[in-house]
Amino acid sequence: MFDLLKKLTGIVGVSGNEEEIREAIKEEIKDCVDEVKVDALGNLIAVKKGKGKKIMVAAHMDEIGIMVTYIDDNGFLRFSAIGGVSRYDSIGQRVKFKNGVVGAVYYEEKLDDIKNLQLSKMYIDIGAKSKEEAKNMVQVGDVACFVGDTVLQGDTVISKALDNRSGCFVVVKAIKELKETDNEIYFVFTVQEEVGLRGARTAAFSINPDIAIAVDVTMTGDTPESHPMEVKCGGGPAIKIKDRSVLCHPEVRRLLEESAKRINIPYQLEILEAGGSDPGSIHLTAGGIPSGAISIPVRYVHSPVETASMSDINNAVRLLVEAIC
Ligand code: CO
Ligand code: ZN
Repeated sequence: MFDLLKKLTGIVGVSGNEEEIREAIKEEIKDCVDEVKVDALGNLIAVKKGKGKKIMVAAHMDEIGIMVTYIDDNGFLRFSAIGGVSRYDSIGQRVKFKNGVVGAVYYEEKLDDIKNLQLSKMYIDIGAKSKEEAKNMVQVGDVACFVGDTVLQGDTVISKALDNRSGCFVVVKAIKELKETDNEIYFVFTVQEEVGLRGARTAAFSINPDIAIAVDVTMTGDTPESHPMEVKCGGGPAIKIKDRSVLCHPEVRRLLEESAKRINIPYQLEILEAGGSDPGSIHLTAGGIPSGAISIPVRYVHSPVETASMSDINNAVRLLVEAIC
């Protein structure tokens, strides 16, 4: 159980570079569905055929990271963000490239006030002594993700990329635990969510489902002096009401709430005041698709120490299975 989550979180899969995470997920699910395909943008689509309702389940498999923009004469790398990278969370972190090269992220010493820190004042040190040496290790345009071990401590999991490998984990588990149903279900592991909900848009257009349910993470309001928010870690999966990209369709919200009540699991209602998610692009395509989401409460989203509750994740699996079958 935890091993699969750890495997998924450990893979480097920055937006636009989802090959490895896609292969890993495909291996896990290919024997449990009727059809598996990869579309033109790289979305992984697994279909469970049926004559009933056409349901799209979406979990983005990409993660935030950095891209090398410039290599200086001394072998230091300058970089730009892929997705919502926090400059403060980046200080003193490690990044890992697809070929395994690891770098230390730090900032120029001449900085009067940390508030003036910009990503453009930061660099990555891969231990190269010259531009030539660095270029033998990484190229301009290469991407890297942040490094953060996946640790389970009691019910708490701390890891990089719980956004959104915990959502991928939930969908993979749901595929394995599907019950008898006539519904036709499209399980889509989407690309490029972190750079603008891109893969979900094209997948939803070609599938044109009756309804869509995304599985992703949400922030919480349960840490010292945090922004007031109802959602807390360990309070159960959250049912999305809105974020900045979508007002969830009441029909989908009702389906999720009724499903949670039926199986008697705790749930919370999510109003996320920052950030968007795949339903934001899904609901606006193909003439309009009623969309909603199950969100896993995660603290410190987009940092290498994202923190969640394993029981919330497991209850999200149960909720998803109940809602789509
Ligand atoms: Co994210
Ligand atoms: Zn996400």
